[in-house]
Amino acid sequence: MTLHFKHDVIVVGGGLTGLRAAVATNDKLDTAIISRVHPVRSHSLAAQGGINASLGNAPEGRDDSVEKHTFDTVKGSDYLADQATVRAMCAEAPATVYEMEHWGTPFSRYDDGKICQRPFGGAAFPRTCYAADVTGHVLLHTLYEQCVKRNIKRYDEWLVLSLVVRRKKCHGFVAMNLINGELASFSAKTVIFATGGYGRVYGKSTNAIINTGSGVSISYQAGIPIKDLEFVQFHPTTLFGSNILMTEGARGEGGYLRNRQGKRFMADYAAKAMELAPRDIVARSINTEIEKGNGFPGGYVYLDLTHLGKAKILERLPGIRQICIDFANMDPINEPIKIQPGQHYSMGGIDCDVKGATEVEGFYAAGECACVSVHGSNRLGGNSLLDTIVFGKLTGNEVVRTTPGIKGPDAKLVKDELSKWQSRIKELQSRSGGGLAATIRERVKEIMIEKVGVFREKKYLKEAFEELKELRQRADGACLSPDGYGFNQQLTGLIELPGMVDIALMIAGGALNREESRGSHFRRDFRERNDKKWLKHTIARLGKLPKFSHKKVDVSEYVPKARTY
Ligand code: FUM
Repeated sequence: MTLHFKHDVIVVGGGLTGLRAAVATNDKLDTAIISRVHPVRSHSLAAQGGINASLGNAPEGRDDSVEKHTFDTVKGSDYLADQATVRAMCAEAPATVYEMEHWGTPFSRYDDGKICQRPFGGAAFPRTCYAADVTGHVLLHTLYEQCVKRNIKRYDEWLVLSLVVRRKKCHGFVAMNLINGELASFSAKTVIFATGGYGRVYGKSTNAIINTGSGVSISYQAGIPIKDLEFVQFHPTTLFGSNILMTEGARGEGGYLRNRQGKRFMADYAAKAMELAPRDIVARSINTEIEKGNGFPGGYVYLDLTHLGKAKILERLPGIRQICIDFANMDPINEPIKIQPGQHYSMGGIDCDVKGATEVEGFYAAGECACVSVHGSNRLGGNSLLDTIVFGKLTGNEVVRTTPGIKGPDAKLVKDELSKWQSRIKELQSRSGGGLAATIRERVKEIMIEKVGVFREKKYLKEAFEELKELRQRADGACLSPDGYGFNQQLTGLIELPGMVDIALMIAGGALNREESRGSHFRRDFRERNDKKWLKHTIARLGKLPKFSHKKVDVSEYVPKARTY
């Protein structure tokens, strides 16, 4: 029996963005959420340090404002963010945090009952609202409760395989039930992608295993433009060995970065902001120290919390402490933590506007898979959780407005796509001799971390692009060892491999073209920002290899200036 499902709106992704979008649409429209994991296992869960809003609750933060939040975000983006959209996000921030508070999020609080705010990198004031160091976790559970309360229909543990787009109209998609390998067609007037980032294209990443970027690669394959993929955020402090996130909140609470001589080396790179310079700057500083021989063998430096004291660590950073005990066999109350930068966030994504609209009717994107763009070439810590909920809500509201006017989907087109996938999966299962998908994937990750990482240079970017081209061809013939259909990770890995290489090619190709340094994109051979030539977004469109063009940046509010901290 073949399965066919139909809804007014289907949200793809059960993280914060997807849940918030579904909450917005469900009251008015027949809505479903489809997700490759159960929503409370989404990667939003891993967010630790907090969510930005100019509440002005901290004693040193009384003068904070939407204006200052907007400016810090634009400056942090190295002026590549679209400024009106940044303002829209920052203006929504206080109401967003209060809405989550009223829905029950257990934020940490000051004695007067107000929500606590801690300093984060690149922010003029303590602006990051937090719940100890498990902020993503508690926000996710709050929104999940709102979905349960509304009885929103869910398809958990389904992997979306391809979108059906004809003449710039979306009709739905085909998905595979990961539990038993069954395929189904899903038709909808409106599809919202909230599929998260692509961190697992890199060898060292804080991202969950599910973050293969499939939402971005599927959109690319459907002909939808992808924006600014060359801008990849490396979080400065990830646990050496496993690359689990060690929150920026640890530095916000007063943690130090020390090299092997015990020196707080940030004094040499950002004398004023020190450990709380923006992430691109701190990540480069750490890697420079390691390259200069001031790191430890294997490539790490120390994040030192020992001076904070047991009580503060237990109150503000209990999750970090537990991760260190469980995964590094040490206690940060007594010893410094071994850390190194690791891939953390995707600034680029599906090109869309402030309400999630793309150039395709009935297809919207929000959250990390989207590029609105509010983060430009470097995101400030704490703006990601904000982005997820604000743009989930704005997109959901827009979909409520537009969906009634959209002609119903052509379910036959979606069923035809399903038939194609039925044959394709059989063909994938029967392949032999093409090289294992997992081997090719591991090589992609190595290339990306070695040649398209924190520091970039023409020679290595070219080498990366050439080898990725070859791997892209091999991906089309890759195979697996037969292993049935239920939770077959080899099969999902094989299905997703070509898309992962497409993403790697868009990152490496965009980075090779962009002959300047801006935010997270640092070229050793072009060390300065070049506004004359490169104050523009990169657009990648489907071709045998990605076809690159450019789009204007909105700089209507702040004139680009040198970025110093
Ligand atoms: O360091 C962190 O807690 C991460 C926050 C973020 O990416 O915004």
